[in-house]
Amino acid sequence: MSADQYLWWQSGVIYQIYPRSFKDNSGDGIGDLAGIIGQLDYLNWLGIDAIWLSPFYPSPMADFGYDITNFTDVDPVFGNLRDFDRMVKEAHSRNIKVIVDFVPNHTSDEHPWFKEASASRSSPKHDWYIWADPGPGGEPPNNWMSHFGGSLNGSAWEYNVELNQYYLHTFHFKQPDLNWRNNEVRQAMYGVMRFWLNRGVDGFRIDVMPFLIKDDQLRDNPFNPDWKPGDAVHHKLIRVYSEDRPETHEIVQEMRCIAEEYSERVLIGEIYLPYPRLVRYYGENLNETHLPFNFELILLKEWQAAKVCELVNTYEATLPAGAWPNWVLGNHDNSRPATRLGEAQTRIAQMLLLTLRGTPTFYYGDEIGMTDVPIPPELAFDPQEKSSPGHGRDPARTPMQWDSSPNAGFCPPGVKPWLPVSNDYAHINVAVEQDAPYSVLNLVHELVALRRASPALSTGSYSAVESGTENSFCYLRESDGQRFLIALNFSDRDVPLSLSQFVQGTIVLSTLLDRRGGVNLASFNLRGNEGLLILLQG
Ligand code: NOJ
Repeated sequence: MSADQYLWWQSGVIYQIYPRSFKDNSGDGIGDLAGIIGQLDYLNWLGIDAIWLSPFYPSPMADFGYDITNFTDVDPVFGNLRDFDRMVKEAHSRNIKVIVDFVPNHTSDEHPWFKEASASRSSPKHDWYIWADPGPGGEPPNNWMSHFGGSLNGSAWEYNVELNQYYLHTFHFKQPDLNWRNNEVRQAMYGVMRFWLNRGVDGFRIDVMPFLIKDDQLRDNPFNPDWKPGDAVHHKLIRVYSEDRPETHEIVQEMRCIAEEYSERVLIGEIYLPYPRLVRYYGENLNETHLPFNFELILLKEWQAAKVCELVNTYEATLPAGAWPNWVLGNHDNSRPATRLGEAQTRIAQMLLLTLRGTPTFYYGDEIGMTDVPIPPELAFDPQEKSSPGHGRDPARTPMQWDSSPNAGFCPPGVKPWLPVSNDYAHINVAVEQDAPYSVLNLVHELVALRRASPALSTGSYSAVESGTENSFCYLRESDGQRFLIALNFSDRDVPLSLSQFVQGTIVLSTLLDRRGGVNLASFNLRGNEGLLILLQG
């Protein structure tokens, strides 16, 4: 298959925007859609192909937009539907696709559906949510735990006195779970998908996809023997009965049918599962998600060459025939790569992300090397910080650093941004880095450009190359006779390499951005923290 036969979501690069934190145009200290529109030229310069926006729908913000009161509108804090339409038009005019977040597992407890559902047991919408009677002593129906705690010792059930029933909330108690066994719920939510598809969106990132269906008997989950104090509370149980139930796949297939009513739309599943279970979300006949998010680079605890090599090879070997791979380096729920890996190895991680086979997704600010910003408890917003102290996600959601002006150019001077701007903004920001030859931004910019220009890098095959050293990971990308060797040093020491099978090559890019040109592959050196992209001759 030649490179131009691939679809945009296969050859392209995806950039995640957390709208609250990207750019504030209205001057209230919170990012908005008009702010995003104003930065599309920057994203175009960066060379990305698609933006994915975390939720911008009306919400009381108990979970910053993942608690929705109206699935088909824009929260006034972010703008309105006209702004949204303008954003899509402006993005498309720059050949940037727009992916929006679809949050099917739950609504806000302030959503009219839930209000109606809670009014009485006989309400027509009662069954739209998951209700269960109390246990014999009035206790919650089972032992399931909420990700964000709750009023009952972290239980995922909240009691409704009038109805003498509990409702399920896998996340915050203000995020009641929808009942996807109810066909009216399905049809209503498919209507939501069509609403945005008709407005021109190019796809959805689908929130917590494996949680959609729960065990029909609501059986207790087993305890997790590996849980230890200090771990996030909701990991105390293994979610055997509340996640990844077989019936979920039928729903994902239905969602895929909706996407297929339109041309070239993409479905991306948020799925934190090990590879053998993850890849089932491609569907037996590749009829489910196009891209089940692969988070293993984020989750990897030991950033070592051998571990990364094993991860990549295992993934490649587990992918079903015809399934398109993807890689994610950071997102709004996890510590940033520059914090997890350190400044020097972030550059290696970026070269890895942008030269592996499969669609890369990176998170706003990671392209300039933004780090997690410590948030004092009194300024913390994230419900996860409140239920599992130390596990909050605010540190990775701080304002984008655009320039060296007050508030890093995120919002006007004198306005208080919703989360503090990092102290390092005077030198870690877009404007400074665009002019600094050695910056992470220039590295990412060049990697994206090279990937786009080269069929081997964007859609070519992958094969690992035995390097014979402990600290390096080497692999080939190849298409239509063009071959690249990527050699990454995961340590801060020199790694001598001898890859005589390739003879001669040309360094196209070093992560240290200071050398290019011919290299004798029978004997060459990777400097500490250096990654090389080498075009092979012959
Ligand atoms: C996953 C989202 O990425 C996260 O931010 C959110 O809190 C939960 N889903 C609940 O919607």
